[in-house]
Amino acid sequence: MQMSDAILEVKNLKAKFPTPKGDLHVLNDVSFDVKRQECFGIIGESGCGKTMTAMAILHYAERLGLQITDGEILFEGEDVLRFSRKRLREYSGKEAAIILQNPMEALDPLYTVKNQMYETIRKHRKVTGKEALAIMSEVAEELSIAPEKLNCYPHELSGGMLQRIVGAMIVICRPKLIIADEPTTALDVTTQLQYLKLLKKIQNEHHTSIIFVSHDIKVISMVCDRIAVMYAGEIVEIAPCRELLQHPGHPYTKALLKSANLDRVVRNEYETIEGAPPNLLEEIHRCPFEDRCKYAAGKCYEKKPQAVSCGAEHQVKCHYL
Ligand SMILES: Nc1ncnc2c1ncn2[C@@H]1O[C@H](COP(=O)(O)OP(=O)(O)OP(=O)(O)O)[C@@H](O)[C@H]1O
Ligand SMILES: [Mg+2]
Repeated sequence: MQMSDAILEVKNLKAKFPTPKGDLHVLNDVSFDVKRQECFGIIGESGCGKTMTAMAILHYAERLGLQITDGEILFEGEDVLRFSRKRLREYSGKEAAIILQNPMEALDPLYTVKNQMYETIRKHRKVTGKEALAIMSEVAEELSIAPEKLNCYPHELSGGMLQRIVGAMIVICRPKLIIADEPTTALDVTTQLQYLKLLKKIQNEHHTSIIFVSHDIKVISMVCDRIAVMYAGEIVEIAPCRELLQHPGHPYTKALLKSANLDRVVRNEYETIEGAPPNLLEEIHRCPFEDRCKYAAGKCYEKKPQAVSCGAEHQVKCHYL
């Protein structure tokens, strides 16, 4: 069997939350793949389904009450949704791991950083206590964590240092895929930059694939090789980073880039995207962006656009590309 160069393939994923008001259709035919050692970005406004996509990939959907109704998630060709409990224990945290916006959620407030790193090494690597301490010093040095910080409790550390510690835990576990869900949103700009460099270092030196989730186009463009633009539970455009920035195809991507344009902000020309995303309680059979799109006409109100190829690795879901 030929080995695919994708570590992850998400195919036609559909998912819903049953609510007292009816089913909330949060993922509506999501398809993309992530290559080995690639940093793949997912961008889109709040509520578009970025975190739920991440949760589905990590097999956390069920415990959140999210029902996957269709599609496949293939990790190195194996269907994650059909993993046995045993296989899932190997996969979660070891092969695929998540970095959350709030690093405190990943750390135990009752134990020092050193304690937690030591336990993580002993759990994930077959080494003696002495070797575990050596690995800890090595990883701490690699990620520029001063030795005295290791003796601190999580609440004694800054947000940037905590994200660095979570990065260290990840390096220790050596997952093949990291999903970073808005990991820098709570950090100031300088710390954010340092952290993005750290993620790139992990990606390059440990040959890790990363899915980087953000609603900030500037941040996502700094680290990602390709970017997927998500809207109302769908991916409406995928392209290599530079191609997306220079030749956006979907009207939503164009509006997103315009609203982030700093030159316009300097000139007091704030561009916002008028209107709101559609109500996900209704299953959408038309273009989901139709009521906010200035180009919408005819077909847009009648049927969903299929993905159209408009360049190497560039796909857009729009009737009037
Ligand atoms: N436990 C839940 N029960 C019902 N609906 C939920 C639940 N969690 C999330 N949702 C809904 O699922 C949709 C997708 O949410 P998701 O968290 O994936 O958005 P997001 O793109 O990550 O947004 P943000 O940028 O704010 O993090 C939203 O409409 C949200 O309200
Ligand atoms: Mg989210």
